[in-house]
Amino acid sequence: MSPEGRVEISQEKRLIIAIDGPSGAGKSTAAKGLARRLDYVYVDTGAMYRAVALMAKARGVPLIDENALARLASALHISFFTKEGKTHVLCDGEDVTEAIRSPEISLLASEISKTKGVRTALVRMQRRMGKQGGVVLEGRDIGTVVFPHADVKFYLDAETGERARRRFTELAEKGVRVDFSETLREVIRRDHGDMHRTHSPLKKAADAILIDSTHRSAGDVVEEMVRMVVAKGRSDSRSRRADPSVPKAPRGSKDL
Ligand code: DC
Repeated sequence: MSPEGRVEISQEKRLIIAIDGPSGAGKSTAAKGLARRLDYVYVDTGAMYRAVALMAKARGVPLIDENALARLASALHISFFTKEGKTHVLCDGEDVTEAIRSPEISLLASEISKTKGVRTALVRMQRRMGKQGGVVLEGRDIGTVVFPHADVKFYLDAETGERARRRFTELAEKGVRVDFSETLREVIRRDHGDMHRTHSPLKKAADAILIDSTHRSAGDVVEEMVRMVVAKGRSDSRSRRADPSVPKAPRGSKDL
């Protein structure tokens, strides 16, 4: 480990890491923490669905017009940048980081994410963002659809009441006034929508590592993920060394 707490990563292969799970399970904190530790890029795919929802609302695109939604999603330019440790979301040059987090946009994003054409457009963008590796992608379908061959897959879950409590605290800290029962209803409704939609419903990939964060701190979850990624990197390096068809790594490259 480097002095800053970063895990030194093999130069041979930069991994693709998928983190899926329902809202409030702690995916964002874990994904950001893991990306920081590995010095990898963090991609928040939920923010991309939220950005499409925000723009659809701003431009008056009706939710029932699936073709128009798909056209909107394919035409948008969505990117991320980090400033003073905070990840910002840019949509067609506009910083939408805060605007996409309202309860209204949460529900709208969940609705819009059911549209096949929107998913196709965003999955294409996500594959472009992640294909070089050295990336932690967070979402609902990363390990099942976007990168079914991701090097390491996590499915992060927590009890419903705990996820609602976290969401409630997050909104309260931002000064958004809601009551707890409303937040709980919103979480249950979104879970239902995300898990039962026709296209790419949220489910655990068969080969994903399940982590339950109900009674665990965010730091603890990140540590477990780091351990799993390091173990995976080691076993990959051993198999590469054992395989005579794989060229030797250049001198100076480090294994995990
Ligand atoms: O992770 P989030 O709450 O910011 O995601 C917003 C919505 O987008 C959520 O209701 C489900 C949807 N989503 C999705 O369908 N697929 C993804 N890969 C990420 C998010």
